[in-house]
Amino acid sequence: MEEKASMDAEVTRTARKQLFGFFEGGLAVNVLSATARLGIADHLAERPHNEVELSDALGAADPEIVVRFLRVAESMGLVRRSPDSGRFEETPMLTLLRREDGSCRNTVLAFTAPSYSRPAEMAHLAVLSGRSTTKQALGKDLWEHYADNLEEATWFAGAMHELTNTVADCVLAGYSFAGRDTVVDVGGSHGVFLSRILLSHSEAKGILFDRPEVVEQARRPLDDLGLTSRVRFIGGNFLREVPDGGDLYVLKSVLCDWDDENCTRILSCCHDAMGTDTPLVIVDWLRPDQSDVTLDSIDFLQAVLVNGRVRTLSQYETLLHAADLRLNRVLRTATGSDMPATVMEVFRR
Ligand SMILES: C[S@@+](CC[C@H](N)C(=O)[O-])C[C@H]1O[C@@H](n2cnc3c(N)ncnc32)[C@H](O)[C@@H]1O
Repeated sequence: MEEKASMDAEVTRTARKQLFGFFEGGLAVNVLSATARLGIADHLAERPHNEVELSDALGAADPEIVVRFLRVAESMGLVRRSPDSGRFEETPMLTLLRREDGSCRNTVLAFTAPSYSRPAEMAHLAVLSGRSTTKQALGKDLWEHYADNLEEATWFAGAMHELTNTVADCVLAGYSFAGRDTVVDVGGSHGVFLSRILLSHSEAKGILFDRPEVVEQARRPLDDLGLTSRVRFIGGNFLREVPDGGDLYVLKSVLCDWDDENCTRILSCCHDAMGTDTPLVIVDWLRPDQSDVTLDSIDFLQAVLVNGRVRTLSQYETLLHAADLRLNRVLRTATGSDMPATVMEVFRR
């Protein structure tokens, strides 16, 4: 009897420890966000700093709070103390938060911004209603929120740049875009994927199609790459219409943002713009039949934020059928299932 009671107490102690561990996880996200926002990586890239030096560099009021913050960052492996000088120095993880090409800084900023954290705080309401909480949390949907918040929109487009650049190598290695005169990137953000196609196919031209305010912001990055003369910028709404005249259409990381009804609208608009032999290349998450912790988390987050989901192949096939399209082939690229990098080539039926 006593033995059972002591075992029960031990189970409860362990469960409580696990439960309270999630608070640390939540705080870790805030510390990660603060590290990115404060530009700690750029300061420590110059040289190691002690708390007073870093405090001065940040313009912080009190070095004591800086060191208390850095202790948590150290426990997360974001910074470490030099064994010789005791100063704080960068770790490989921190270098990924530098303001430079190839880093993940915008991804961290976008995914810890109010546009994500506020709807996520209301996850219980999404579970009860089965609908995204973004309108309740932000007063508008995610895309309207970005239209009104340039800083968060810039972080989000930067995140798309960072993530899409990572998967573009694998997609371009596995799927041939050769011989396509005009590539239309539907919901193409600031054009990172389109630019990668155009840079590897010098004869091709592109149409970048996205919301009007997003397309406006895309001119500069494409100009920096010397591509503006090969790109037409078209602003619009892919739930209503998609530009015609393309020899290949791309929908990358778009369908995962929408419910079935809106996906059918987007696909139907693509269908209407495509010729009989024009391919539509969908690049997105593919959910395996068995459970996968990363994809299960992304799937739930997509539901909370945008009424979206991570779909299985048969769910894609149902959507395509509803839009009078057919799946021709599926290419699982080398990045693995934890990136939105599965290529599905689709034609009109
Ligand atoms: C997740 S991002 C994907 C961006 C890009 N395809 C990539 O993978 O890098 C989704 C894009 O859809 C765009 N979008 C959202 N609603 C739209 C609409 N109604 N019409 C056109 N584009 C829209 C957003 O502005 C955003 O750039």
